[in-house]
Amino acid sequence: MSRVVNPYRKDFPLFQAEDQKELALAYLDNAATTQKPYVTLLAEQLYYESKNANPHRGAYDLSVEATMLLEETRDMVKHFFTVPKEGEIIFTKGATESLNLLAYSYGLTHLKQGDEILLPISEHHSNLVPWQMVAKQTGCKLVYLNLNEEANISLEEVKGKLSNKTKLVTLAQVSNVTGSIYPVAEIIRLAHEKGAIVIVDGTQAVPHLQVDITELNPDFYVCSGHKLYGPMGVGILYGKMDLLNQMSPFLYGGDMIEYVEDFSATYAPVPQKFEAGTQNMGSIAGLRGALTYLEEKNRNQLFQYEEELSNYLLEQLKKVPHVQLVGNKTGNNRIGVVPFLVEDVHPHDVVTILNQDRIAIRAGHHCAQPLHRHLDVLATCRVSLSFYNTKEEIDRLCESLKGVRRWFGYGSERTI
Ligand SMILES: Cc1ncc(COP(=O)(O)O)c(C=O)c1O
Repeated sequence: MSRVVNPYRKDFPLFQAEDQKELALAYLDNAATTQKPYVTLLAEQLYYESKNANPHRGAYDLSVEATMLLEETRDMVKHFFTVPKEGEIIFTKGATESLNLLAYSYGLTHLKQGDEILLPISEHHSNLVPWQMVAKQTGCKLVYLNLNEEANISLEEVKGKLSNKTKLVTLAQVSNVTGSIYPVAEIIRLAHEKGAIVIVDGTQAVPHLQVDITELNPDFYVCSGHKLYGPMGVGILYGKMDLLNQMSPFLYGGDMIEYVEDFSATYAPVPQKFEAGTQNMGSIAGLRGALTYLEEKNRNQLFQYEEELSNYLLEQLKKVPHVQLVGNKTGNNRIGVVPFLVEDVHPHDVVTILNQDRIAIRAGHHCAQPLHRHLDVLATCRVSLSFYNTKEEIDRLCESLKGVRRWFGYGSERTI
């Protein structure tokens, strides 16, 4: 039986079961999705057991309770991210849907030929492909911010590419490939000085950093519930009210209308205008459970421990022969998302071999093909940490990595 010592693991059914086994699963793919604590799962179950009804529809008690749960969760999200009074939270299916909503409802109507969208080359496809669609349909242009040697964005690069043509800046707060924390507060300030609107994709930031939307002052902020210890199928979109009011709906149908005539309709006020159809109430209830869990645990303590783990991971990976870190090789301005290569071995082979030792990490382009081209690699291996991981798991990862090249008959020296 593994002797994993970590006070948080008992809160997660998957780890509680795994930690009874001879060799527990080392789950190190948290940038893809996080495991769910009991609190999340029970909140979802409780909704279906005792509050299952359509919110905003029925006049009977059960439906009113569902409506209350939805609105209380919205308030909780506002509190969790310190949303300013003049802002609003909209529930979506995930970060991808939030970004598509912005591309369709803001991008297509506010951008035109001659305008520019500024975005880092490292963006996740979810914050890149929708803007390619907007550029194709409106004739506006995508301008890319390149990364510096530390896989970060320098303010000089931003100042050099921002112009009076820049109408929209869209960027991740933290890269899902390199783990770099971008200087979004300064970038937002610079963009606002030029009159541009800023979208921040906080999908990889919110599980690892305190995010204060009032202080950051983006125009829009998006993230996914399932990377924040919540269920899949719920996402968050924050927007400034005056912008949301100007935008057309994204999806049309029930729940988002005020009056429907035979040939026209008027729409409900924000946020309902953007929440057509029945919401994923089970997932919203689960998200509420996840946020409750995180607030109870003292997030600063969780993040401090993650930083300690991240530094340990970097230190230990650097000691493994033939492992090359990709992107930022230091612990500066980053979270515990670390891409690397094993010399002579394809990343997919690396993760397949690690899987035999019950270690789960990711290989591929991580939905960031332009970044991989920019880094001149086809694919990378990626380890991503959470507060329920341990140094023991990192040691197991490094031990397993030491054996990878032997599978292919390579010795200790580089062959090519
Ligand atoms: C930075 C970033 N943005 C957006 C997404 C898309 O999130 P989802 O698939 O939950 O919509 C991801 C997922 O990995 C991500 O890492």
